[in-house]
Amino acid sequence: MSAPALLQLRVAAKRPAAQGIVELTLEPLPGQSLPAFTAGSHLDLHLPGGLVRPYSLSNDPAETHRYVLGVLREEASRGGSVAVHEALQVGQMLAASAPRNHFALQPTPAPKLLLAGGIGITPVLSMARQLAREGRPFQLVYAGRTRDRMAFIDELSAGALAAHTRMHAADADGVLDLGAVLDAQPEGAELYVCGPLGFMDAVFEAAAARQWDASRLHRELFAAAPVAAAEGGEDSAFEIEIAGTGQIVPVPVGCTAAKALQDAGLPLYTSCEQGVCGTCLTRVVSGTPDHRDQYLTPEEQAANDQFLPCCSRARCARLVVEL
Ligand code: FES
Repeated sequence: MSAPALLQLRVAAKRPAAQGIVELTLEPLPGQSLPAFTAGSHLDLHLPGGLVRPYSLSNDPAETHRYVLGVLREEASRGGSVAVHEALQVGQMLAASAPRNHFALQPTPAPKLLLAGGIGITPVLSMARQLAREGRPFQLVYAGRTRDRMAFIDELSAGALAAHTRMHAADADGVLDLGAVLDAQPEGAELYVCGPLGFMDAVFEAAAARQWDASRLHRELFAAAPVAAAEGGEDSAFEIEIAGTGQIVPVPVGCTAAKALQDAGLPLYTSCEQGVCGTCLTRVVSGTPDHRDQYLTPEEQAANDQFLPCCSRARCARLVVEL
């Protein structure tokens, strides 16, 4: 797998969107155009300091001149959001992947229930903008701990979105009754939820308790929990052989395959580092991966011809891969 071509984007604006959240507007170089995106998409930003991190787009996918992102400052994260908040300046150039989507709106006529918790509002706002523009039925329920930490309040409180939107701040409104929200939806409604893992789990549990079919349930997976070690116990060391060159890269216990490859100077982009985004997808020529990602389908995992080295390992002594 060769590294995909990156977009070169200029930071056209950076503004506070709420306490602890900045909104970034990224534009192409003069005379260049941007790849189109669909609601629910994200970009991998290549940040100062060499970090690559995924951030969801919040603007209407009908816009072709800019990408708008919302970024929550997370001190406990691996540094990407702090770099955005502190180091990134208006006018600066950034490399980014083309937009990708694994949280897409389904092209069905079913009414949509959009549920956002905290910074999960970012992709959900893009969905709401599209649905409102197209005149399609939907409700947006946006939950946060306090109103001053909830982003994009102005956009949600006015114009076409206001009539569809319910905002719920826990400090003022108490615990959100997810069951009541679900029970109020029209027959056959589809659910799209993005937010902290516990929030998304609670929403899915409430939907399952009401016999909502799994085909109607959609969630953003950036907050996904890491998948545990394979059945049978502890991680093992293994080797990766690079097809074509024969280079051998040892992957010790406690080190991801992606880090081992990068430390060996090999070209491999990573972003979510949780097996969710697909950025590090790598072709496997021989050997059996120990799949721990949430990106590949069960069928794709069973084929054993690709794996996500940011989280997956090997069930054999050596994997041969193409880079
Ligand atoms: S970096 Fe996201 S799946 Fe590996």
